[in-house]
Amino acid sequence: MHRESIVRGIVGLRRFGKSTRLRELIRYEPRVIGWDPRVGPDAPRGQLGFDHRFYSARECGAFIRRMRGLPLRCALHSDDPHDFAELLHAAHDSGGNVIFAVDEASTLCPRSGRVAVADESFAWVISQGRHHRMGVIWTAQRPAQVDVLCFGQSEVIESFRIRARSDLEALAGNFDRDQLKAIRHLPPFDFYSSEEN
Ligand SMILES: Nc1ncnc2c1ncn2[C@@H]1O[C@H](COP(=O)(O)OP(=O)(O)OP(=O)(O)O)[C@@H](O)[C@H]1O
Ligand SMILES: [Mg+2]
Repeated sequence: MHRESIVRGIVGLRRFGKSTRLRELIRYEPRVIGWDPRVGPDAPRGQLGFDHRFYSARECGAFIRRMRGLPLRCALHSDDPHDFAELLHAAHDSGGNVIFAVDEASTLCPRSGRVAVADESFAWVISQGRHHRMGVIWTAQRPAQVDVLCFGQSEVIESFRIRARSDLEALAGNFDRDQLKAIRHLPPFDFYSSEEN
C-alpha cells in the first residue's frame, strides 16, 4: 500500500503531544492538505507548520488546484465541515496523491447519535480515499467523541495518555487490555501504537 493511502489516528489528552506528532509525520511528505481548526491567539503560527495557510475554503481550493501534480503543502483554518468538501474536490482536481492532515477530527466526525454524524466528504475520504491515493492522519482528544468509523477505517491508531473509561472503551478494538491499562499512565509525549500489535 502506498504510504499516502494510509489512514492513521492519533488520540490522547490535551497537550500530550498529538499535534506535534502529526506535524512530525507529515514533515517530509510532498503533498499535504491540513485541516486546522485552531484559529486565534493561541495558535498564531498554526499548529501544523505550513507556510501556506488559508482562512477561506475557496482560496485554499484554488491554491490546491494550481498545485496540480506539484509539491503541495497548505492548511485551511476552519471548523465548518462544509469547507472540507471543497478541499476534497480540489484535491481530486489537483490529481490526488495527497495526505489530509486533520487536526481535531471531532469537527468533522463527531460521534453518531451525539451531535451529528461524520461529514460526508470526510467519511468518504477515510473509507474510499485509499483507492484514489488519498490518505488521512487525524487527531482527537476524546476517542468517545469521534465517530466509530474513524477507528474502523484506520490502519494504525497511536494513543497518548487516555483516562476516561468511555474513551478507553472506544479504543478496545485497537489495543488489548494490558495496553489500555498502560495507556492510562503514559507520560506526556509518549504513545502506544497499534501497529506493533
Ligand atoms: N515530544 C515532545 N517533547 C517535548 N515537548 C513536546 C513534545 N511533543 C509536544 N511537545 C510540546 O507540548 C505542548 C503540547 O503539544 P501538542 O500541541 O502537540 O499537544 P496536543 O496533544 O496536540 O494538545 P491539544 O489537545 O491541546 O491540541 C506543545 O507546546 C509542544 O511543543
Ligand atoms: Mg493539538
